[in-house]
Amino acid sequence: MKALVLAGGKGTRLRPLTHTSAKQLVPVANKPVLFYGLEALRDAGITTVGIVVGDTAAEVRAAVGDGSRFGLRVTYIPQQAPLGLAHCVLISREFLGDDPFVMYLGDNFLVGGISGLVDAFREGDCDARILLTKVAEPQFYGVAELGPGGEIRGLQEKPEHPRSDYAIVGVYTFSPVVHDAVRAITPSVRGELEITDAIQWLIDNGFRVDSHLVGGYWKDTGRLQDILECNRIVLEQVERDIAGTVDGLSELTGRVVVAPGAVVENSVLRGPIVVGADAKIISSYVGPFTSIGRRCVVQNAEIEYSIVLDGSCVDGVSRIAHSLIGRNVEVSRAAGVSNTHELMIGDHSRIQVRS
Ligand code: TTP
Repeated sequence: MKALVLAGGKGTRLRPLTHTSAKQLVPVANKPVLFYGLEALRDAGITTVGIVVGDTAAEVRAAVGDGSRFGLRVTYIPQQAPLGLAHCVLISREFLGDDPFVMYLGDNFLVGGISGLVDAFREGDCDARILLTKVAEPQFYGVAELGPGGEIRGLQEKPEHPRSDYAIVGVYTFSPVVHDAVRAITPSVRGELEITDAIQWLIDNGFRVDSHLVGGYWKDTGRLQDILECNRIVLEQVERDIAGTVDGLSELTGRVVVAPGAVVENSVLRGPIVVGADAKIISSYVGPFTSIGRRCVVQNAEIEYSIVLDGSCVDGVSRIAHSLIGRNVEVSRAAGVSNTHELMIGDHSRIQVRS
């Protein structure tokens, strides 16, 4: 069995980060979200992986390489434009050959792995098995209508009147018959070849599509609040590990990770928190569910429930919360006139200030 991991796309909901980098590489507890998926595939016994890449191909290649550090053999499949999830299958025909495969959306985050789904697919005799989870607001998701044996009767995309509260999760297993489906369908109103249309084609043409319920936690990390929530979930599991240097004036409570080369001085850190290698936390407060990237500097500042990417500096600012700060960003106190905000912000940024 092979895997197809989708790491292209537009990433409009995560602008401006996605203007310069791949959303699949946004770190959750200082590890790119894509890496959790690659590890889940390896743990399910899959070694041959194709990664579909778009504009951010170079960055994804630099991060994942040939896959050997994950125990995988990775092939890159360039997608000229983000023309839909089923389009990714279409362009991967040669790589996939006639093997069954798992399709994994590179920005999806699943606790508990995918071995259950993959084993059930290997043992069963269906043509597709898709992962579902019960959600409170199915109208915001792709929704599956189930028959008595768990077989899928039909799919609805973000329906006004959902026929069930089972949302489709971004991990699918397919037999090679899906190649007929992706060739048969036409683009949707938003101009994309939709995987839900391909699955519906399988159902309409008499192929068996089964469902599998997610055992653990699942999130699509396409939006800021989802990434922060994933970060919280992963940080809940970290073990305290202080490899960096912490001075006697600092107070560290709970599960705090300070990576090698990081320095904490005169600061209060309330876990769960991770502080990346060679970061500096000086005279600051870092509150729960915060990930500070490598080489960051946080000084005379307060921050909690946030993610700061590598090489950024937060200086003299209180208090930052519910925030995602990109790479090599500078957030500092404005000099001069009080109650003034001085900003230089990238396109499509979102800033909330309380003045
Ligand atoms: P989405 O999150 O559905 O789409 P998107 O990346 O365009 O994001 P947004 O809605 O914020 O604009 O994509 C799910 C995953 O599949 C994600 O990892 C990107 C990837 N993808 C591709 O690789 N090629 C594509 O054509 C599409 C649509 C998505």
